[in-house]
Amino acid sequence: MELPFTTLNNGVQMPLLGIGVYAPKQTNEVQQAVEWALESGCRLIDTASAYGNEREVGDAIRESGLSRSDVFITTKVWNDDQGYTRTLRAFNRSLERLRLDVVDLYLIHWPIKEHRHETWRALEKIYMDGRARAIGVSNHYLDQLDELLTEAIIKPAVNQIEFSPYCYLPEVLDYCRQKNIQPEGYAPVVRGQKAEDPKLVALARKYGKSTYQLLIRWSLQHGVVTIPKSVKRERIQENFDVLNFTITDEDMALMDTFYDNTRIADDPRTRE
Ligand SMILES: NC(=O)c1ccc[n+]([C@@H]2O[C@H](COP(=O)([O-])OP(=O)(O)OC[C@H]3O[C@@H](n4cnc5c(N)ncnc54)[C@H](OP(=O)(O)O)[C@@H]3O)[C@@H](O)[C@H]2O)c1
Repeated sequence: MELPFTTLNNGVQMPLLGIGVYAPKQTNEVQQAVEWALESGCRLIDTASAYGNEREVGDAIRESGLSRSDVFITTKVWNDDQGYTRTLRAFNRSLERLRLDVVDLYLIHWPIKEHRHETWRALEKIYMDGRARAIGVSNHYLDQLDELLTEAIIKPAVNQIEFSPYCYLPEVLDYCRQKNIQPEGYAPVVRGQKAEDPKLVALARKYGKSTYQLLIRWSLQHGVVTIPKSVKRERIQENFDVLNFTITDEDMALMDTFYDNTRIADDPRTRE
């Protein structure tokens, strides 16, 4: 089945479903996982310099034999590299590791207060030099987005935030929609922490799907780019097998009420 795309505010097409590759405890699994994902039809890979696996991601893309333009690659500048000159250098190092001339999306990983303005200026330069097809941010809440939009020459195309029913902040989605910023959701399956939640299990049973598939589908139906991570072949396939069913409006609304502020990362409302 053809995977859906979204069109970013600069006209670039981005797949709505991809794979994340944050794999802290595993080694040498990411290249294989990305190869399996590409075989399953995945065309969006979400990495970051902080994940330490850009080289493996680049190798997987080359091994796949797909043409470069068929794969959408995101990477991110880590906190220690923020600031204008440091970000430009960090970006060059990311390109070297990926062995690419251009990334599809370059993100600020966290909105570090004292550096984010200069970091964004560096991303704008990278974009204007044609070395990133789109630029954006991650972990930005409303006030950080407000600040950025006041200062930016180029509007962010994407805001990547933690996104599951358990940490659902509708105001961020509303804001992004209003400003034509594409929301992207990380940790969509809450790293498995909610797989046994009876509310979710009951709904998954109703649809004949796994709780993982239900969470991914919920995120997609919110129009959010969704990047579940797995290094296991059958799970990667399961996570992509979510396009043949639809959660009803009523059940979407029910899942929206599952909020209990379960997060796998820091809360951007309280950490800068
Ligand atoms: N911007 C940011 O600050 C930020 C922060 C965190 C994450 N991210 C990005 O978002 C991606 C996804 O988030 P995440 O990796 O933190 O969490 P996640 O995708 O919610 O969960 C990944 C975990 O769930 C397991 N899993 C996935 N699919 C499964 C399935 N169908 N059945 C059973 N277990 C399954 C995986 O195990 P196995 O691998 O063993 O299958 C892995 O341990 C990351 O990889 C990264 O690219 C970004």
